[in-house]
Amino acid sequence: MLAASAATSDPVSAPGVDKATRIPVAAPTMPRAADLAPYLERIDAAGWYSNFGPLVLEFEARLAARFGRGATVVTVANGTLALTLALEALGLPRGSLCALPSWTFVATAHAVRMAGLVPWFVDVQTKEGELTPAGLLAALPEAPGPVAAAMPVAVMGRPMSPAAWRAFQDATGVKVIIDAAAGFDAAASAEVPVMVSLHATKTLGVGEGGFIASEDPELISRLRAMTNFAFMGDRVSRHVATNAKLSEYSAAVGLAALDQWPATRNRYAAAARRLRLALADVKAVTFQEGWGTNWISSTCVVRLPAGAADPVAASLSASGVDTRRWWGSGCHVAPAFRDCPASALPVTEALAASSLGLPFFSDLGGAQIQKIASSLRSALAAL
Ligand SMILES: Cc1ncc(COP(=O)(O)O)c(C=O)c1O
Repeated sequence: MLAASAATSDPVSAPGVDKATRIPVAAPTMPRAADLAPYLERIDAAGWYSNFGPLVLEFEARLAARFGRGATVVTVANGTLALTLALEALGLPRGSLCALPSWTFVATAHAVRMAGLVPWFVDVQTKEGELTPAGLLAALPEAPGPVAAAMPVAVMGRPMSPAAWRAFQDATGVKVIIDAAAGFDAAASAEVPVMVSLHATKTLGVGEGGFIASEDPELISRLRAMTNFAFMGDRVSRHVATNAKLSEYSAAVGLAALDQWPATRNRYAAAARRLRLALADVKAVTFQEGWGTNWISSTCVVRLPAGAADPVAASLSASGVDTRRWWGSGCHVAPAFRDCPASALPVTEALAASSLGLPFFSDLGGAQIQKIASSLRSALAAL
């Protein structure tokens, strides 16, 4: 049921549990073929398939409208490239540091490296797992070199404070780009550039895609050029760039998904409410603050007692309930980033060992919720 890229790392089914009755950890909500038809017919009629066609421009305008006045959006082939190219578009000195939390998906750190900067992993401050402007300000004097950029992350899509990051940027000169990959619902301000992923596993998916919203028109036009061979309205390639444009077909999916967004959002919120209710009396399980009530996402990540993520995951798997430690043990342990500078990361390590993604999708059924809740109760009781 998972999108192909995510399915490759699915846990192996426990022996004795029927594969058909396992509850998957995630299942995308995407528009159906019939929903796409009117948009596909527009593509046929226009004969325009890529290169900033009418559907991509309409999709970008509808996305920008979510961020209020002054925001512009550039769509990109995927979220990781959107982060990479946005960092490159800032024109920062190669080899300078970009501060980021280790408590994120590896894509954030890959983007920093691919943009020619050095990831500097800084510990998160809050119980929600966030790197805050105040936390980074306090860490800056310990930086192992000049810090040119910071990439804070919206933890599993929770709301961020772009205004506070804008104040941090103004005070320090450190350029900030927010990675809100899973934050389509909550991201509402582009006071500093913000990236949202449109991967099929996100609440608004096109398959592969992402976008940057920003109030800085120069950054937006440099970024758009970065996605199109550094052409700027002509065929002169001004500097090294790439091809990272979204096609009209992807925009068709995005427009159909936007048409359905109010209904999709309601389905996610209702599923979240049912899951929260079923686990309301289990004190050892803490949901993300405001999840399912103030904001929604396509994953459900709960906090368990210290060190319980692995044993609870193993117990749930044995009863046919798939889970995922979505961000593993943090980026700093990945071979790709082990050589990167890092501050002490005690909060990250504690979070990683106690955070677990439970099965969650927009049509999670009542029987599935009961099975998740009872398996989780037994797993916790056995700790
Ligand atoms: C925090 C974070 N950043 C970046 C990305 C990359 O987005 P994409 O899959 O669109 O490249 C993801 C993907 O899940 C993510 O979770």
